[in-house]
Amino acid sequence: MAGTIIAANWKMNKTTGQAIEFARGLKDALLKKPVSAAVVIAPPFTSIEALAAEFRGGDISLAAQNIYPASSGPFTGEISGEMIVDAGCRYCIVGHSERRQLFGEDNALINAKITAALNYGLMPIFCIGETLEERNSGAEFTVLTKQVKEGLNKLTANDIKKIGIAYEPVWAIGTGKTATPGQVQEAHLFIRNLLSEMYGEKEAAGVSIIYGGSVTSDNIGSLMAEPEINGVLVGSASLDLASFLAIINFH
Ligand code: 13P
Repeated sequence: MAGTIIAANWKMNKTTGQAIEFARGLKDALLKKPVSAAVVIAPPFTSIEALAAEFRGGDISLAAQNIYPASSGPFTGEISGEMIVDAGCRYCIVGHSERRQLFGEDNALINAKITAALNYGLMPIFCIGETLEERNSGAEFTVLTKQVKEGLNKLTANDIKKIGIAYEPVWAIGTGKTATPGQVQEAHLFIRNLLSEMYGEKEAAGVSIIYGGSVTSDNIGSLMAEPEINGVLVGSASLDLASFLAIINFH
């Protein structure tokens, strides 16, 4: 069975001081009221170490928002898997649509990043999703198939056990326009069936497929009621502690 993941993608938000304040509040709240889902925070690189110190010994995990495939060398501005693990992360977001759109990341680079993350024992949260134009022209499943097949190129059934997938339709990110639970369920089922064809039914059933795109405390309940939605990747609504706690405690 796929585990539930509730992850916060802070993107380029929060100074270290602000991140620590949030982390202390989150830690206290989860000590008082533990949850069964894996709770993951993806802060900017600059706050990872400070948050790792805050979360040490507890149940909250950290994710990097990006990774570079090489292990070291002349790659100004980039961070390796070894550095990410060293700083205290267990997860790594890979292929977010903002990286695809603003920084030109393609499926081949994303594949190399997923491979690098796995090599360092990080769990990649592999983001895929179609644009509005692609959905309107009925191409969403073709796009998802290409992203999955090329992004997971050369990975084995054993690798796939260590990967999470985030379905994030580009039109729903930061727009306040959430995909309906039915649309997300349909896309997740499609992705799971594709993984099943590629790696086998048992392996596919174990992959956490989470949803991202304007998730809030108002829509989390109806999203999580769908059987194929194994969690969420939350952007804006994860920046405020009360709002993120309301998402975590959606039951
Ligand atoms: P929003 O929740 O702000 O729409 O962002 C979603 C996202 O991109 C998470 O990775």
